[in-house]
Amino acid sequence: MVTGANAGIGKETALALARMGATVVMVARNAERGAAALADVRHQSGNGQVTLLLADLSSQASIRQLVTDFHAKYDRLHVLVNNAGAIFMQRQETVDGLEMTFALNHLNYFLLTNLLLDTLKASAPARIVNVSSGAHYGGQIAFDDLQLRQNYRVFAAYSMSKLANVMFTYELARRLAGTGVTANCLHPGFVGSNFAKNNGLLARLTMVLMRPFALSPEKGAETSIYLASSAAVDGVSGKYFTRKKPQKSSSASYDEAAAQRLWAVSAELTGL
Ligand SMILES: NC(=O)c1ccc[n+]([C@@H]2O[C@H](COP(=O)([O-])OP(=O)(O)OC[C@H]3O[C@@H](n4cnc5c(N)ncnc54)[C@H](OP(=O)(O)O)[C@@H]3O)[C@@H](O)[C@H]2O)c1
Repeated sequence: MVTGANAGIGKETALALARMGATVVMVARNAERGAAALADVRHQSGNGQVTLLLADLSSQASIRQLVTDFHAKYDRLHVLVNNAGAIFMQRQETVDGLEMTFALNHLNYFLLTNLLLDTLKASAPARIVNVSSGAHYGGQIAFDDLQLRQNYRVFAAYSMSKLANVMFTYELARRLAGTGVTANCLHPGFVGSNFAKNNGLLARLTMVLMRPFALSPEKGAETSIYLASSAAVDGVSGKYFTRKKPQKSSSASYDEAAAQRLWAVSAELTGL
């Protein structure tokens, strides 16, 4: 299963896994964009075992429905790539009344993974791959204002959510030790995808100007694909990768007490 699979890094990840012959479940939020990407991935890979499930991953009810839909069709899951994510210039709230960046980029990974965990364990060996970002290095978890009501700053919100991806991965790996399910996270590089284009003309223009310095989505997907499929990372868990190599993540990301606190508050916010 690959989330955010209709565009950018997620689509290239789904395509590569489909080319390897995997049964791939592409998750998208928009039926039209999802169907177009599904047709393209099927066509380019020649793999008919690629399907599409729809979910708005900023909504907890939609994530729960996605898991129900998945279980109606499949009883095993060997690879979950949590990839869907975005940056928001203005503070927004989800249908659950939560700040959008934290809800989409972190709580989505947290809830979807936890709801699929029994299936992943029953399918072991299995892998969880969380797409984080180098932006996490500047992040801090604002435990006293997780919803960023007092002071919304776009990069602080984004880097906090991406630090949460790393801390969630490490805590998950500790909890999964001995189960045959691994959890790793990664920075894809700076990628010329649709990223940030949801933020109006200025953001679109900036992305166009930056494009010469950006990796193609295909290149940007390489570490996700590697972590999802390479035998070289069999049994490797609890690591942060860049360019297919384990890297040291920020010192904040190794704070185990903070990771446990983040887990507890995430469980509360998602009703787990
Ligand atoms: N691009 C970079 O330079 C970069 C760098 C570091 C990390 N990352 C991370 O890489 C991941 C993928 O980003 P990308 O660069 O491939 O961006 P992208 O081209 O914008 O793709 C993002 C994907 O997430 C989906 N998505 C967004 N909001 C969603 C929602 N509410 N529910 C379901 N799906 C939703 C998008 O669907 P729609 O097409 O419907 O919007 C799209 O399929 C993100 O986690 C991002 O933080 C990117």
